[in-house]
Amino acid sequence: LDFPINAVITTLMSACKKKEFIILYGSQTGQAEAISEEIYEQALKRGFHPTRFCLSQIEKKFSLEKESCAVIVCSTTGEGEPPDKALKFVRRIKKKTLPPDYFKHLSYALLGLGDSNYTNFCLCGKNIDNRLQELGAIRFYETGYGDDAVGLEVGVEPWIEGLFIALSKHFDVTSSLYDNTIQHFEEKVERIIITHISEHISIQSEKINFIEGKLDWLEQSSMASLKSLSASLYGSVLKIPSSPEPFLQLDFLSDQSIELENTTSITYPNSATDVKSVRVIKIRQLTHDPSVKKTFEIELDIQDTEFVYEPGNSIGVICYNEKKDVEYIFNRLKLSEYADKKFTLNVSSDTVKRGAKVPDYIPKITTLRNIFMQYVDFRAVPRKAFLRMLADYTYNDSEKKRIQELCSSQGSKDFDMFVRANLIGLVELLQTFHSCNPPVERLIEMLPRLLPREYSVASSPSIDPTKLKFVFNLIEHPPFQETARYGLCTRWLSNMAFQFSNSVLENLENLHIHENLVNIYFRKPTNFRLPVDSTKPLIMIGPGTGIAPFIGFLQKRHSLMNESYALGEAYLFYGCRYKDKDFLYKEDIMRYKSSGVITDCIVSFSREENEPKYVQDNIRCYREKVMSLLFERDGFVFICGDAKGMGRDVTNTFVDLIEEYKKVSKPDALKLLSTLRENKRFVEETWT
Ligand SMILES: Cc1cc2nc3c(=O)[nH]c(=O)nc-3n(C[C@H](O)[C@H](O)[C@H](O)COP(=O)(O)OP(=O)(O)OC[C@H]3O[C@@H](n4cnc5c(N)ncnc54)[C@H](O)[C@@H]3O)c2cc1C
Ligand SMILES: Cc1cc2nc3c(=O)[nH]c(=O)nc-3n(C[C@H](O)[C@H](O)[C@H](O)COP(=O)(O)O)c2cc1C
Repeated sequence: LDFPINAVITTLMSACKKKEFIILYGSQTGQAEAISEEIYEQALKRGFHPTRFCLSQIEKKFSLEKESCAVIVCSTTGEGEPPDKALKFVRRIKKKTLPPDYFKHLSYALLGLGDSNYTNFCLCGKNIDNRLQELGAIRFYETGYGDDAVGLEVGVEPWIEGLFIALSKHFDVTSSLYDNTIQHFEEKVERIIITHISEHISIQSEKINFIEGKLDWLEQSSMASLKSLSASLYGSVLKIPSSPEPFLQLDFLSDQSIELENTTSITYPNSATDVKSVRVIKIRQLTHDPSVKKTFEIELDIQDTEFVYEPGNSIGVICYNEKKDVEYIFNRLKLSEYADKKFTLNVSSDTVKRGAKVPDYIPKITTLRNIFMQYVDFRAVPRKAFLRMLADYTYNDSEKKRIQELCSSQGSKDFDMFVRANLIGLVELLQTFHSCNPPVERLIEMLPRLLPREYSVASSPSIDPTKLKFVFNLIEHPPFQETARYGLCTRWLSNMAFQFSNSVLENLENLHIHENLVNIYFRKPTNFRLPVDSTKPLIMIGPGTGIAPFIGFLQKRHSLMNESYALGEAYLFYGCRYKDKDFLYKEDIMRYKSSGVITDCIVSFSREENEPKYVQDNIRCYREKVMSLLFERDGFVFICGDAKGMGRDVTNTFVDLIEEYKKVSKPDALKLLSTLRENKRFVEETWT
């Protein structure tokens, strides 16, 4: 510390007495930010004095050196990387020159967010946690993990409940320690680490923050559904989150002739370039059989842009909500007559919400149609706080109680079963709960941002720098009220195919498709890059649309071969369901094999008899080859595709094979793998 110890202790003591602490968040897509806000709101209501900042505001707005108590909420992105806005913070605390007692004055609690489908579950949170420990900070409450694979709320809710008990204890104990003596500060503070508190919570003692709704009667059938009250919760005192404070208002413009704002200044997570409107030149449907997913390839004309790319890059595609859904919401909430009226969105003067601000991704002058078409994600699975808000505006008793159940702690199973698993969004909720009529301001406050979808580039500029291709599967969601539902972006893109084939299935205006233009940007480059030395061996693993970046790699190798560069061995492990129905780019791959661009393509068919089913099964079959290329010939491994089934299984297979090949223990095999990762020789790009 570069200021006197006495001054530090006086500051800490006063912060402690006032129950002051800092909440810091690192968020890529907004979840950690929303959770940090929830913690902030609850803390205020419980009499604490929190401040809240994004980790990117380090040095500008806060300095951890001057804080005595911090609560950090941080997600992980990419392949185990910090969110963009947490990078500076992570770099700062990683500095090797920091002494081991640098954060000795700091007590902290940390909540990592992640998805256990990814190999590096909550890695950024874990790294921050470890580093703070190394620098002498004291954990006053057990580190929590929120897992998107099972629903963030499962881990996050009990963690937050326990946090406030831990915070109270922390401030009580620390104050008395300060009062007694400051000499033994370090020794005593270490004793107040509190582990797993959530079981000890008494619901009654938490009354201030939860409203109670006793279910004294049961409506209709006891068959549970999204709509029906749950028999298992009959008579329970429900523990429901407190209602978020309203904070936005729409101020309609008296002069409606004002132009809508240009929106190009809006930034997107991971973006490395500006957004450009590019023309779709071609859409090909690569699979047609009903027993496999529909896969499409899109070709874009990028010649009028300054985009320069390499195989292995990926793009963000800006997508829009469906007009029919927006119309439904407007009709249902009686907003149609206001849909195109221009307004400015402002923080309401009478809000009691502290630090309220207008979402920065919504232009200053806008319309409801603009907001609902472009900026808010009303199809996202709602957070429980959102349901809680809807309950406030639901006027039929049994509907209101059902929504309260779904957002209560006791109703978590029902929430998972009926909301999360069925991908229920705002439209489905409004269709189910007819008396639910939330004000539109409240929806804008609480709906998450509609984010672009990302796609790996499936071409190489060495073939034609003015063109770019990508490949995607049309995502099918579980039907709702017998209506088929699809992924938002893939539905939007695949509908363009109908426009191209002149067999328009529905009014294209409905889809916000203008002259075949798509708005895209390039994502920040990752380590997914062909090695500079073309003679290094490659092991490429990419089932399904995970093949995309390898098509770019192979095109580039083809060009190198034509320019007489020597090429190292290259193996492609591909996987699909059937030999004849969904083997993407089969002809191209076979051509590349016969011309020597790749040494071999080893394919796994998951629905054919007597075949290795998955890519990892074939990697095992080829273990000698794979291991010797990797370790004896300095080979590179690239993995691309679905994180749910494939990514983790392939990585685990590599750990097993390394253990076996190198005759080392599992921890040592893991270390070898992380060294390969650091050296950019084991590179993953996976998605859920
Ligand atoms: C770096 C990167 C590269 C990518 N590259 C490609 C690529 O090359 N090709 C490609 O096809 N995709 C790729 N993706 C995925 C792509 O970005 C989109 O997520 C995908 O196309 C779906 O978009 P959508 O808007 O159609 O679906 P959405 O409307 O966003 O719905 C998809 C979501 O629904 C969830 N979901 C789907 N079915 C269920 C269910 N039954 N139960 C619960 N949840 C469900 C999924 O988890 C997923 O999160 C990539 C992703 C990343 C991060
Ligand atoms: C492109 C992408 C990459 C991700 N990579 C990881 C990862 O490597 N490890 C992990 O635990 N979670 C990963 N996740 C999951 C996120 O951490 C998780 O969804 C989290 O709730 C997001 O919080 P945020 O919105 O605050 O960023 C990834 C999510 C996305 C969209």
